[in-house]
Amino acid sequence: MCGILGYTGERQASDILLAGLARLEYRGYDSAGIAVLSNNTVKVAKNKGRLRVLEEKLKAGQDISGTCGIGHTRWATHGEPSDINAHPLWSDDMSVVAVHNGIVENYREIKNMLANHGYAFYSQTDTEAAVKLIDFYYKQEKSPLRAITQAIKVIEGSYCFVMLFKDYPGEVWGVRKDNPLIAGQGKGESFLASDVSAILHDTRQVYYLDNMDIVQLKKGVVRFFDTEGYAKHKELSEVTWDAQAAEKGGFEHFMMKEIHEQARAVRDTFGSVFHSGKIDLSDSGLTDDAMKNISQIYIIACGSAYHVGAAAQYIIEDLAKIPVRVELASEFRYRNMPLSRDSLAVIISQSGETADTLAAMRLAKQNGIKTLAIVNVVGSTIAREADNVFYTMAGPEIAVATTKAYSAQLIACYVLAMELARVKGTITPTYYENLIGEIQSLPEKIDEILDEKERLSEIAAKFVNARNAFYLGRNIDYAVAMEGSLKMKEISYLHSEAIAAGEMKHGPISLIERGMLVAGIMTQKNLSLKIASNMVEAKSRGGFILVVAMRGCETLKEESDFTFYVPETDEHFAASLAVIPLQLMGYYVAVARKLDVDKPRNLAKSVTVE
Ligand code: AGP
Ligand code: GLU
Repeated sequence: MCGILGYTGERQASDILLAGLARLEYRGYDSAGIAVLSNNTVKVAKNKGRLRVLEEKLKAGQDISGTCGIGHTRWATHGEPSDINAHPLWSDDMSVVAVHNGIVENYREIKNMLANHGYAFYSQTDTEAAVKLIDFYYKQEKSPLRAITQAIKVIEGSYCFVMLFKDYPGEVWGVRKDNPLIAGQGKGESFLASDVSAILHDTRQVYYLDNMDIVQLKKGVVRFFDTEGYAKHKELSEVTWDAQAAEKGGFEHFMMKEIHEQARAVRDTFGSVFHSGKIDLSDSGLTDDAMKNISQIYIIACGSAYHVGAAAQYIIEDLAKIPVRVELASEFRYRNMPLSRDSLAVIISQSGETADTLAAMRLAKQNGIKTLAIVNVVGSTIAREADNVFYTMAGPEIAVATTKAYSAQLIACYVLAMELARVKGTITPTYYENLIGEIQSLPEKIDEILDEKERLSEIAAKFVNARNAFYLGRNIDYAVAMEGSLKMKEISYLHSEAIAAGEMKHGPISLIERGMLVAGIMTQKNLSLKIASNMVEAKSRGGFILVVAMRGCETLKEESDFTFYVPETDEHFAASLAVIPLQLMGYYVAVARKLDVDKPRNLAKSVTVE
């Protein structure tokens, strides 16, 4: 969950580390720290709080000069955010100094074993056990590589460690298991980072580490080893996207910038599979023959990606008549679900690193099910391990609350539904062509909605002191309600619940109080009267009724306290439009409450722990 960096070269490491960590801070931000190795001495600066606290501390004169170092922004799993628990952590004589992303699951046993050898522990972290274990082997082996290969035989859990060894000046070491790490190759310098955006200003030449790869950096040299310590060859890749994509570009927050990038994300994602007037998914392994044999689909994901799956379920079942189950990855992985052989598991993930989603995908593979990953981050673990990948073209997403990746994932699912329907013959060629036209017109319609965003900003101001909200919908609108509700709660800390509208009367209705925000999504014509009744029930109990409907829908016009119309589109694709005002509502309530929109409390962008 955290951001990790390593650097060795000719420049001052602290400058490179602070600049890189600022670009990684979205991954974790409760503490920050760096360590620099110079003349066989390691100097550390670290503290609880944001990176700017560390920057101020260093400006105040702490000497941390040197050209080789490591850095970390933490998302605490073990031990509260505090100066002591902040990374880097070190062995008592500073032989080994390390930063860590992930969880050392057997840290208690490791600590007990090391305590018997005289080791003492000062932090509450699981990480300290691992650092001291590496030190334990280092003292015996006198070699960083052998110490690492020994330690990873013992450490259980998920990790990425980046390390300095006091007696190896100019070197940075790293190893990863189920947590991301890339290496960058520059001229006379080299880098390690959790994600390419951190080093893109310095180099575009990167290596994607495989699970259990060990990496050694020297100035301008990057070497790899396997778990037995044998040298390993890896191919260098060139990053093609623009460093600007990971900057705010004049917007106050990344989230607002990314909301505005949705039209482009939708256009590019569709454009990536639409060539010469035809959709072609063969690069994702979906040839007509392969699709003909699919009789069941499992969609597996977490959070917003799961909400995309929830919408996709209605769409695929309706268009292609194939049964779909949408599963939360964290549940799927611990359930012995009988899986049907002729099925396809669709794994949806922006980061491609979510621990639960990765584990669920591995389980599906072990059961002989073909996997298709819909992923945004190129080279991520899920993308590399899936049988096939459909890359969404959202570009780097920095705000913790996803917006443009969600929108791009929806497009991937629409295309999948349409192709399955075409192959199975469940929709007519004319309707299929109409749907293509509808997808192509979505970007323009998204921008049209954004032109009206100020109206939502005004209405959001009403809810600055609200405590609860409901989001109601049926069918695809229920899937959108889940996403709208999550946007609201994760960034504005207003408690909100998405309810399948028909369920409200079975319990939740008891919570409605005067003035409570009750948002109803009404894009599905055949259900609009049904949801209208549920909204009126909420209004009768004092709810403030906010309706998101498709233009032309007059139902509830009278009763609603505020209506936001989205342009008309085919109802299967309505989620792409209805979600935009809900994203904006979440954003504006958070801004009105003066909250840190891009880095909400307790959250992190990529959830690489269980
Ligand atoms: C979305 O706003 C959330 N921050 C979160 O629910 C996210 O969608 C979830 O953690 C899944 O992440 P992934 O797409 O990177 O797998
Ligand atoms: N488990 C470690 C800790 O709590 C690492 C957390 C992280 O990935 O930031 O310190």
